Amino acid sequence: MERFSYPGIVGLAPMAGISNKAFRTVCRLWGAQFSFSEMISAESVLLDLDVVDEMLPFEEENSAVQLYGSDPKKLALAAKKVQHRASWIDLNAACPVKKVIKKNAGAALLKDLERLRDIVVAMKNACEKPITVKIRIGFEKNELEKIMDVLVSAGVDGVEVHGRTAVQMYSGKAQWNLNLERWNVPTAISGDLYTVEDIRRALEISKASAALVARGALRKPWIFHEFFHTKAPTVEQIRDMFLFHARLLKEREGEKSFYKLRQFVAGYTHGFFGGREFRERFMKLEGFDAIESAIREFFNRFLMSVGENTVRDRTNA
Ligand SMILES: Cc1cc2nc3c(=O)[nH]c(=O)nc-3n(C[C@H](O)[C@H](O)[C@H](O)COP(=O)(O)O)c2cc1C
Repeated sequence: MERFSYPGIVGLAPMAGISNKAFRTVCRLWGAQFSFSEMISAESVLLDLDVVDEMLPFEEENSAVQLYGSDPKKLALAAKKVQHRASWIDLNAACPVKKVIKKNAGAALLKDLERLRDIVVAMKNACEKPITVKIRIGFEKNELEKIMDVLVSAGVDGVEVHGRTAVQMYSGKAQWNLNLERWNVPTAISGDLYTVEDIRRALEISKASAALVARGALRKPWIFHEFFHTKAPTVEQIRDMFLFHARLLKEREGEKSFYKLRQFVAGYTHGFFGGREFRERFMKLEGFDAIESAIREFFNRFLMSVGENTVRDRTNA
């Protein structure tokens, strides 16, 4: 197998409940070079649950499937089963949520490095695609060195590092000063990447090969566009992408999924004059038709009143 490398320098991080097909597509169109599925349990893959098919990448290049679990055999079988839908398989050893930790999965694997090693070895043996692992820097304290040594000796193809411990959850500042090039394996840095400058600095300071944007993409889905074009998109581009996002969601998940757009409305309208009132109204809208006309009306009114078609020129709400 050719040596793995992340397919670019900036990708969309895995986010349960957020990075579904529609959001991945939108972020990729804005310029994200690669993406991950939401985390999928190995057990649900083996049980053939319907939800798994919806979560797997569909006709997407450079998109990884992220699996979680604790049993090396089950994870290896699950990886083998879904590998045809993935550019590579990623193991979640980063999730700090109680429900996951209780099952000895996610970040709990950072407390049981022997198991982590066994899982990576079993997945590597079962699977033809590269195997990467997403970690935190430790469970209670920074043990990055130990964890990375184990992963590298198990033959991992790449490691994404969220620069916080599991007990920190999402609090405190993420660490970037991790000197990730110490290990002869591709790495990606994650944590607190909200602006183009954050991405540049995190890449430089961490010495990672790539960066993963998570909440930053939710707050501003066009952060990828800004990174590669060094300027904001036009208001019309934002309006059209919001409408496209709505259409994708409707096509893929049906008429009843309109409410899922609510978690993205802040990202698309933050900073626009009248944005706050619009968001309040948006939360009460039902159905895609109502949503589409509200989006058109909001952005068109903004364009007419401001007359300037750039995000930089918008008036803060
Ligand atoms: C709502 C949400 C869901 C997440 N789900 C996952 C997940 O399924 N798998 C994973 O490895 N990380 C998950 N993460 C962690 C992110 O991938 C990322 O590492 C973390 O948010 C730190 O980056 P940020 O500070 O730039 O948001 C999630 C984060 C958020 C906010």
